[in-house]
Amino acid sequence: MTNLEGQVAIVSGGARGIGEGICEVFCEAGATVIMWDVLELGENTATNIAAKGGNISFQKVDITSKEATENAVAKVMEAHGKIDIMINNAGIIRDRSFGKMTEEEWNTVINVNINSLFVTTKAVLPHMRAAGYGRIISASSVNAMAGAFGQTNYCATKAAIQGFTRALCKEVGRFGITVNCVAPGFIESEMTASMPEEVIKAGIKMIPVGRIGTPRDMGYAYLFLASKEAGFINGITLHANGGAYPI
Ligand SMILES: NC(=O)c1ccc[n+]([C@@H]2O[C@H](COP(=O)([O-])OP(=O)(O)OC[C@H]3O[C@@H](n4cnc5c(N)ncnc54)[C@H](O)[C@@H]3O)[C@@H](O)[C@H]2O)c1
Repeated sequence: MTNLEGQVAIVSGGARGIGEGICEVFCEAGATVIMWDVLELGENTATNIAAKGGNISFQKVDITSKEATENAVAKVMEAHGKIDIMINNAGIIRDRSFGKMTEEEWNTVINVNINSLFVTTKAVLPHMRAAGYGRIISASSVNAMAGAFGQTNYCATKAAIQGFTRALCKEVGRFGITVNCVAPGFIESEMTASMPEEVIKAGIKMIPVGRIGTPRDMGYAYLFLASKEAGFINGITLHANGGAYPI
């Protein structure tokens, strides 16, 4: 059955939220996980997962920095000799209606959410090609399809990630590398924790399964695409939203 025994996985943005859920599930599936984040919190999160038996380490990496990302990849190669799985989960929001959005808010979201894929993919791809195997999975969003008020910058990046995925999969499939993305719906996170209760209740009413998603729900979605068994699935967006949006 699906497991990640013997696999080396990098998870960006793993210090909290969905990324933490991915790290937990991947460790339970037997992977060696290298968590990347800009937050020092990542060290605690990794320690907690390791305490439950996970084979995990933390590297403080800003995925918008080519130099920091390349150095981190070099260390992973030195320690583990390969990179089987790259999870591009890190992402940010800077919400504001378009009329009021600043150029800085626009550029920051574009840089962290989409330009970083150029950086991380360039860094890991040569190692995957040399090994003849790889899984690259990135975080899109239900809002890439649905749109959302105040999120022109964010929705643009999350739709771009789907286009990047569909194009890259055509280039690297022949090397044993698949490229996919996950589009999470309404998921428990720092962001949702700060929302008023009535907003959360109204959101849940829109979800046919009758509950908000959890980081671990997302971890299992990523696990499926990251598995060896998903080798014939390439270029897709896996919509993990409880049925909230008709795709
Ligand atoms: N939570 C949701 O409801 C939801 C829905 C759809 C899509 N998503 C996407 O899923 C991903 C995770 O979302 P989340 O809710 O867990 O967010 P989060 O803010 O809780 O976690 C994101 C993590 O990424 C890290 N990060 C940000 N910039 C970084 C950088 N430059 N380098 C390295 N790490 C960086 C943050 O420090 C943080 O730990 C994001 O890409 C988000 O857009 C989330």
